[in-house]
Amino acid sequence: MKLTAFSTFYFWLALFLAGFLGIADSFVGSQKNHTLIFTKESIIRNCSCLADIRDCDYSLANLLCNCRTVLPSTMEKTDYSNDLTIWFTDTSVLEMLLNFTMVWDLKLSFCGTTPLPTEYLTIWGLRKLRVKNKVKGQFPEQSVTIYSSSKNEKEDLLAVHNKDRQMFVYISFLDTSLFNGYSLLKSYSVENVSSITEHFHNLLYSNVFSTSDNRSYVVTFIY
Ligand SMILES: *[C@@H]1O[C@H](CO)[C@@H](O)[C@H](O)[C@H]1NC(C)=O
Ligand SMILES: *[C@@H]1O[C@H](CO)[C@@H](O)[C@H](O)[C@H]1NC(C)=O
Ligand SMILES: *[C@@H]1O[C@H](CO)[C@@H](O)[C@H](O)[C@H]1NC(C)=O
Ligand SMILES: *[C@@H]1O[C@H](CO)[C@@H](O)[C@H](O)[C@H]1NC(C)=O
Ligand SMILES: *[C@@H]1O[C@H](CO)[C@@H](O)[C@H](O)[C@H]1NC(C)=O
Repeated sequence: MKLTAFSTFYFWLALFLAGFLGIADSFVGSQKNHTLIFTKESIIRNCSCLADIRDCDYSLANLLCNCRTVLPSTMEKTDYSNDLTIWFTDTSVLEMLLNFTMVWDLKLSFCGTTPLPTEYLTIWGLRKLRVKNKVKGQFPEQSVTIYSSSKNEKEDLLAVHNKDRQMFVYISFLDTSLFNGYSLLKSYSVENVSSITEHFHNLLYSNVFSTSDNRSYVVTFIY
């Protein structure tokens, strides 16, 4: 009698799981995966997630997402035209993953407890940034939108035409100490900067900016 009850239970469980997986499967095709990169104890995991995972919940991400380990030695800087989420605990990982890369839509969640120093992260083409602190500070989640754009800039991932058909290259400098949550997220942009090296020679690393290129920059500071 007991045994029958058990088999019935497993039968229904199996049926339920099959149904659930079937439904999950049919969603995979239509829904967009998000890229989530996180580090834990010097291991970097690059995940493709269907669901939005609660920030800094590493085990849930490992469980629900399709993750693989990335070796820092073989890691290459990549450009991200889809949204990218990064959970991090120190700036060295951000530097490795993001410094001088192109990311359009970025979400950064600080999962550490040691305050971060002021360092500047340089990101090309950034449109939207969301930042989140795990520490329950005064400003848990904040965002800034630098620009929104139409769909037709496929030919140039970095540059965007403005109303006057001038090409603008967006470059953002992010102060990593903002994750300490001491103040509100702020940003300001300087538009139509013809030469970064000339105008911001104190801050910037002149060797990375080509001077020959004739495009104008929109320089944004996020702090
Ligand atoms: C993470 O994976 C995505 C594809 O899912 C890939 O485009 C990207 O280059 C990877 N990033 C790193 C740092 O390995
Ligand atoms: C999307 O993520 C699921 C797991 O979360 C994975 O099985 C699937 O292969 C991913 N699809 C793409 C296109 O990366
Ligand atoms: C990004 O690279 C520049 C130039 O190498 C460096 O000065 C800066 O500290 C780096 N940013 C971070 C967050 O490490
Ligand atoms: C950008 O600057 C150039 C030269 O200073 C000027 O000719 C052009 O009209 C400016 N464009 C915009 C959109 O402000
Ligand atoms: C600026 O660059 C564009 C395309 O990159 C080119 O068509 C144009 O002639 C250049 N202008 C100058 C003054 O070099």
